[in-house]
Amino acid sequence: MKRMSTDQIRQAYLDFFKERGHAVIPSASLLPDNDPTTLFTGSGMQPMLPYLLGEKHPLGNRIADSQKSFRSVDIEEVGDNRHTTFFEMLGNWSLGDYFKKEQIPWMFEFLTKTIGLDPKRIYVTVFRGNDVIPRDMESVDAWKTVSASTGIDGKDVDFPEKNGMQDGRIFYYDEKKNWWSRAGEPAKMPAGEPGGPDSEMFWDFGAERKLHERSEWKDQPCHVNCDCGRFLEIGNNVFMEYKKTANGFEKLAQQNVDFGGGLERIAAALNDDPDVFFIDVFTPVRELLQSLSGKTYGSDEETMRAFRVIMDHLRAATFLIADGAPPSNRDQGYFTRRLIRRAVRFANAIGIPTNFTSTIAKAYIAEYGKAYPALASQAESIALVLDQEEVQFRQTLQKGEKELSDFLSQHDTIDGGKIFYFYETYGFPRELTEEIVARQGKHIMHPEHFEKAKASHADLSRTAAAGKFAGGLADHSAETTKLHTATHLLNAALRKVLGPHVQQKGSNITAERLRFDFNHPEKMTAEQIEEVERLVNEAITADLPIAYHLTTVDGAKTEGAIGVFDERYGSEVKVYVVGDPASGSGQIFSKEICGGPHVARTGMLGRLTIQKEESCAAGVRRIKAVVEDGPADIETAGESA
Ligand code: ALA
Repeated sequence: MKRMSTDQIRQAYLDFFKERGHAVIPSASLLPDNDPTTLFTGSGMQPMLPYLLGEKHPLGNRIADSQKSFRSVDIEEVGDNRHTTFFEMLGNWSLGDYFKKEQIPWMFEFLTKTIGLDPKRIYVTVFRGNDVIPRDMESVDAWKTVSASTGIDGKDVDFPEKNGMQDGRIFYYDEKKNWWSRAGEPAKMPAGEPGGPDSEMFWDFGAERKLHERSEWKDQPCHVNCDCGRFLEIGNNVFMEYKKTANGFEKLAQQNVDFGGGLERIAAALNDDPDVFFIDVFTPVRELLQSLSGKTYGSDEETMRAFRVIMDHLRAATFLIADGAPPSNRDQGYFTRRLIRRAVRFANAIGIPTNFTSTIAKAYIAEYGKAYPALASQAESIALVLDQEEVQFRQTLQKGEKELSDFLSQHDTIDGGKIFYFYETYGFPRELTEEIVARQGKHIMHPEHFEKAKASHADLSRTAAAGKFAGGLADHSAETTKLHTATHLLNAALRKVLGPHVQQKGSNITAERLRFDFNHPEKMTAEQIEEVERLVNEAITADLPIAYHLTTVDGAKTEGAIGVFDERYGSEVKVYVVGDPASGSGQIFSKEICGGPHVARTGMLGRLTIQKEESCAAGVRRIKAVVEDGPADIETAGESA
């Protein structure tokens, strides 16, 4: 196979599609423009959405690019040989122009001729079909034709997930695997969302690597989607021709192609090494980390994991800072902060001395500066931001050590949930806390509470990271959750005092305070503010239960829930109820459509104080409020029985 750098592969791809009539456009920012529903650009398709839906693209109906992408859902998965939070997605689009017959031969030609991947080691998948959308035979025919052109038997086989490879080349899978939309499979798509069947391409690293025997799938036959590590998905041809409607699907006005290819993964295939961290863009940083830590990448699992986390996270942080998301406690910057902190923690574990993050960033900037000139021009300021963040975090770590030792001097035992608190708040790895506890002769109670707390936290961050602002929440800490519930109480109290015209216009919540914008034509009087505060605190004192139930948007309307009813909601919504439904509607303080999370009882809020009421825009008022004196530990509201 050819030797090509990642830079060369990117260029070859863009040239290939330019020669086929595509306008090559620069990558959009990692922070989406004018899209309040999404925190990050997570695929090349996101910025193309209006054009896929039929708007005219100023550069025509054939577009190609390499799009910077960030997927925050992958943060906890980083550490294996293939997951990264930041990646580049090669993309080409037909906006109602060419379709399957052109796309499949082009992709095959690019992969096998232009960059020289061995066609015998490429396998593909297609949509099996369901009651509504037919089996994708057009793609199967196209794959058979290109296979035959290289003397390969393009045998199509069904049920690979049960029966394995069956000497096949083309495999049918269901909509969980071979359907793409921003929301996922058809059932998860909200009305109005475009999507379609897709055809994915996989690289075979070879059965002789015996990866399957080591995988959790070892008792099932290996197949391309089995995740054992033998096969790596390198690209996805989405044939976007459907739109979800209230009753099913309809055809879009045009047939689109949305191709997305993982640049790093294609480079790993060409490198014929399943570890993406062995591709050239990581080499300078890998070598730097080796010399800083005195450890060799590849020597043992723990060292490899630490190297991968650092390599991934600091690359992502460098690009995020350049695109305008420096570390902070809110919005996108919160993710940048988490990435840097995690990288520092893992660096500590492998003995890397202080203040290394800016050194790593500079190495990445040297690597990527040509393809992304905005990185090069901001090199100094990016380094400065990282230096400051690293110093500050190291101080936080010291503070955490002190808090832990104070805690242990007063207690003989520590609960697993508390160990998670140190992990989440100060970035203390569990093993580190356990070691300190043991060294002081203290004991751990309910170690399983750690996993429980972590799982519920991960669930919550996944909800947030699924692409939504989660109602403007900075995080899902106890303080933020309390303030989120307080916002619901406030919303309900404002409607009781000012009238039912009050509607939420915006909400932003940090661990310190809530900010709530709502429509009201005039300044609130001191008496009105006092009355709202009193009603909220009365509800808190009553210690009302909070729970949610799932229903449809229409169901929520019928039962009188408030909230923003728009097309963004999925077919199923959560309605959070404050108060006891069994005791009659008089006891229900608030009922609101919301993704959560919330506390389980209002008593956990302590006391609400409105600090400010001011104008925020014409006809829109803004309230800032805090809650105080609630318990440090909270329970989150669950599904109603
Ligand atoms: N939009 C498709 C994806 O992200 C190509 O996988």
